[in-house]
Amino acid sequence: MTTNFDQVDFFSDASLLDDPYPYFEHLRSKCPVTPLPHHGVVAVSGHEEATDVYRNAETFSSCNSVIGPFATFPEPLEGDDVSPIIERYRHQLPMNEHMVTMDPPQHTRERALLMRLITPKRLKQNEDFMWRLADRQLDEFLDEGRCEFISAYSQPFAMLAVADLLGVPESEHQRFREGFGLSASPGELGGTEGPGLNALSWLDDYFATYVEDRRGQPRKDVLTDLALATYPDGSTPDVTAVVRTATFLFAAGQETTARLLATAMRYLCERPELQDELRGHRERIPDFIEETLRIESPVKADFRLARRATTVGGVEIRPGTPVMLLNGAANRDPRRFECPAEFRLDRANAKEHIAFGRGAHACPGGPLARAEGRISLERILDRMRDIRLSEEHHGPAAVRRFEYEPTWVLRGLRQIHIEFTPADDEPRRATSP
Ligand code: HEM
Repeated sequence: MTTNFDQVDFFSDASLLDDPYPYFEHLRSKCPVTPLPHHGVVAVSGHEEATDVYRNAETFSSCNSVIGPFATFPEPLEGDDVSPIIERYRHQLPMNEHMVTMDPPQHTRERALLMRLITPKRLKQNEDFMWRLADRQLDEFLDEGRCEFISAYSQPFAMLAVADLLGVPESEHQRFREGFGLSASPGELGGTEGPGLNALSWLDDYFATYVEDRRGQPRKDVLTDLALATYPDGSTPDVTAVVRTATFLFAAGQETTARLLATAMRYLCERPELQDELRGHRERIPDFIEETLRIESPVKADFRLARRATTVGGVEIRPGTPVMLLNGAANRDPRRFECPAEFRLDRANAKEHIAFGRGAHACPGGPLARAEGRISLERILDRMRDIRLSEEHHGPAAVRRFEYEPTWVLRGLRQIHIEFTPADDEPRRATSP
C-alpha cells in the first residue's frame, strides 16, 4: 500500500516508522517549512531553517519541546503575542518541571546548575568508569557468541553511565538495573504524551534520600557535590529541583544513547569492512559516531511554540503555532550534506548535524553520549570478531527485517540480534588507556 504523504498523520501512522526518510524528503521537496494537515503543526525539515528556530529562543518557547502539539492550553492561543498565555498555564503542561521545557530566565538558572555537575573533570572520571563498565557488560554474554544487543548491552550501559556520572554508588547499580527494567519509551505512536516520566518516579525517592542525606552529612563524594551545588547567584536549590535535574538525565540520556549504540551496531554488521577499518584506525571511531548520529538521529522530532508572528525560511508562522523540528530530516538535507542517504565515514562535515539540537537547550549530554559510543566501540571491536546480524531474527542479507520503536519522538531499533566470535585472548581493561 502506498502512503499518501500529503494526508499522513505523523503522530499516529505506523507506516512511517520503518523508514521515515521518504516522507521527510517529500516534506522538504514541498518546502523546508511546511504546514501539516494535523494538529496545526508546521514541520521544519531543512537544516538551516531548523537551526534558525533552535537559535531563536526569543521568538520560540520550549514549553512544548517534548510533547509538541499535545501541549494544550485552557484558552485559545490568540493575539499578537501568546507569551502571557504560555506563562499563565505553563505550570499545567506535562514535563513543565524539567529544564527542557523551560524558557529564560528559569531555564538559564536550572541549566547553570546542571553544568556545575557535568564538568570536564567529572566527565573524565566518568570515562574511567565506562571502560570498566564496557568490559563488565560484555562479560555477561560474550561467551555465548550472540545477544540481543540493546537489552544485553546498550540499555544497561547507557543507564549505568548516567548513574556513575551522578555518583550513584556501584553497590546500588544492580537495583537501578532492576528499576529500569520497568521504564517505557517516549512519545508512543497514537498517544498524546511525551516521555513516560512516571515510569521513572521511583528514581525521585532515591535521589531525594541521597540529597537530604548528603546535605545533613556531607562526604567527599559526587552525590555531595550534587546535593550542595548552588545557582549562579549563590542560592541553594530546594531538594526537588536537584532531584529533577538528576532524574531527568536518565530520561534524556538513556534511550537516546542506547539507540545510537544500536544503530552503530547495525552499520558495523551491514558494512563488515568497517569493523577492520575501525579496529586498525581507532582514531576514526569518533567520525563513525558522528556519521551515525547524522544519518539516524535518535531524536527524530523536537518542538517549539511560536510566541509571535514570524517567518522561518521565508514562510510565515502565526503566533501559537507548534513548530516541529525534524532533526532526522535536517540531518539529511542535501543542501547541507552531499548524498545525505549514504553512510560516509570520511564525510568532512558530519559534525554539522543537529542531532543534539542547537542554541540554549543544545544537549549538555553530547560529550557523554560521544564518549559512550567511542568506548563501547573500542571494547566491542577488541572483544568481538566477525560481528553479524542474526538471520534467524532479521532475515537473510537481501531481505532484512527490523522493527523500530513506535514513537514520534525517537528513531530507534526495538531490537538488534547479533552473532559474533569472541576474541578470548583479549585482556580486560581496568582503567582508561
Ligand atoms: C545520542 C544521544 C543523545 C541525543 C541524540 C540527545 C539529543 C538531545 C536534543 C536534540 C536535545 C535538545 C532538546 C531541545 O532543544 O528541545 C537534548 C537536550 C538535553 N539532553 Fe540530550 N541527547 C542525547 C544524550 C544525552 C545524555 C547522555 C544526557 C545526559 C546524561 C542528555 C541530557 C540532556 C538534557 C539535560 C537536555 C536538556 C537541556 C536543556 O533543556 O537545556 N542527553 N538532547
